[in-house]
Amino acid sequence: MKVVVSVGGSVLAPDLDPERVRAYADVIESLADEGHQLGIVVGGGPTARDYITTARELGANEIQLDELGISVTRLNAQLLIAALGDRAAPTPPETYEEAGAAFHRGDIPVMGGVAAAQTTDAVSAAVAEYVNADLLVYATSVPGVFSADPNEDPDATRFDELSPAELVDVIADIEMDAGSNAPVDLLAAKIIGRAGLRAIVLDGTEPEAVARAVRADDHDGTEIRPGDPE
Ligand code: UTP
Repeated sequence: MKVVVSVGGSVLAPDLDPERVRAYADVIESLADEGHQLGIVVGGGPTARDYITTARELGANEIQLDELGISVTRLNAQLLIAALGDRAAPTPPETYEEAGAAFHRGDIPVMGGVAAAQTTDAVSAAVAEYVNADLLVYATSVPGVFSADPNEDPDATRFDELSPAELVDVIADIEMDAGSNAPVDLLAAKIIGRAGLRAIVLDGTEPEAVARAVRADDHDGTEIRPGDPE
């Protein structure tokens, strides 16, 4: 199966712990050994936020801050590349074409951001669209897509399944609530819809959760199924 895994920065590198990165690399390697073709996109996490906050106070504009964020996502990607060794393309691809080329060579592309004014959520969906992935997994620090931000609203409930159109509606509602964070952003949701991707949003704190979702479609997160009625 062709699988793109989006590993949130706060999942892979909430702090710099080689054991945590190694555990992710081990899961990725075992899935590759089982014959899955994998592409990985890594987020910036708290390190990106710290750099962005500091540079904003120093007067950087939003595009400069995005470029800073992209640099941190690529640093995090390089940690995973270090752990994967020869299995991974040696540097993070900087375009979808480079990621696709690595994928077709049989290397595992491990990348961060691509261009300003978006996040790695959208990069992951775009890579998945580019390589015609069978599955896109968002390994996040929340256990799925909720009706509202569970950190802000105690009545928020988790969706087991959503159609792409329902996902867009739910995310748009959450994003309109100032201060609320959606587990996947709106641009990513729209790409998932137009590409007809199957996607799973799950808690990726334990990397085995990603392996179970890929191997057996077994997960406690939210599944986005393109064929579902809207
Ligand atoms: P993330 O994808 O980690 O952003 O990229 P995020 O969604 O804000 O982080 P989490 O998921 O909550 O941890 C970090 C930052 O890098 C820039 C953006 O500024 C983003 O906030 N970025 C990333 C881009 O501008 N373009 C990209 O393609 C990727």
